[in-house]
Amino acid sequence: RKIDDPIIRDANDPAAIGQALELLRAGQCVAVPTETVYGLAADATNGDGVARIFAAKGRPSFNPLICHVPDMGMADRLAFIDPLSEALMAAFWPGALTIVCRLREESGIHPLATAGLDTVGLRSPVGVMSALARALGQPLAAPSANKSGRVSPTSAAHVAASLEGRIPLILDGGAARVGVESTIVRVEADHIALLRPGGISRGAIAQASGRPVRTPSRGASNPIVTAPGQLTSHYAPTGAVRLDAEHVEPHEWLIAFGPRLPEGHDAARGIINLSPSGDLREAAANLFGALAAIDRPAIRAIAVMPIPDEGLGEAINDRLKRAAAPRD
Ligand code: TXA
Ligand code: MG
Repeated sequence: RKIDDPIIRDANDPAAIGQALELLRAGQCVAVPTETVYGLAADATNGDGVARIFAAKGRPSFNPLICHVPDMGMADRLAFIDPLSEALMAAFWPGALTIVCRLREESGIHPLATAGLDTVGLRSPVGVMSALARALGQPLAAPSANKSGRVSPTSAAHVAASLEGRIPLILDGGAARVGVESTIVRVEADHIALLRPGGISRGAIAQASGRPVRTPSRGASNPIVTAPGQLTSHYAPTGAVRLDAEHVEPHEWLIAFGPRLPEGHDAARGIINLSPSGDLREAAANLFGALAAIDRPAIRAIAVMPIPDEGLGEAINDRLKRAAAPRD
């Protein structure tokens, strides 16, 4: 790569895809768009590549990464897929659902990517991430393409703001359509465990599986609670975040939802409405862009209107709670 090559290249440009493949084959990592958020991808079977992801993100290396596959065929080569997991893949792939399955010993996935667990989170995303995994013939390990603990990126510019100078290439596929990370589930004997709410709603999973969908209780036997995205303080902007605001103070910014704004809004420092019409899908797509926009030292206080906890609202409220959590 020449030094003056632009780091952001069009994901629809075959030459850019070629460069991305070359980098992945050489054990480098590349930022790649998906329908949920941008991912920082490396060949999951290449320890150097996976290590570069952790280095670029500044992420603790004991946290497992999602492995992205082009189809159920590759999923089956990597892990044991029980019938219910298979039904969920058939219903939601390609899409915003990650399914935790038991790893096959001969999968070739580097233990750094799975944090040494005997399970792997598998997802087949829409678009270029899957195309790259297919062309490579290997799964792509990819966390969200941001510095650890910060807001997940939903645009190439957003990735560049976080990781410029730390990674060789960002493929630009435009704004992420879903805007929150994938839903993570694990099939249990008599129910589906919802490990992280995300772009596919709890209700949709219950309907497709015919099983109850339960949030596991936090405990030592549950490795996910120690991983990023599950840490209590995460996605944090610089300013203090106040949730379920029924009114706005004059020194606050307002993150709004729906057509009816709370008392005091006309005196607020600024307003970002996630969805003026009150559409949860639109609000999810706009969430991380809004959090990134208010992540400025000059913005000290942020009030967030209540968001209904149904459908994609569950994922939105989960991320907002983490953004508002006490920091260290
Ligand atoms: O939409 C998404 O999921 C995005 C895009 C890039 O695919 N990725 C993403 O990755 O959000 P990340 O690393 O930010 O979050 C991955 C989550 C972590 O919380 C981790 O604990 C969980 O997936 N995870 C991965 N493998 C797991 C496993 N074997 N068991 C339990 N949880 C796992
Ligand atoms: Mg993340």
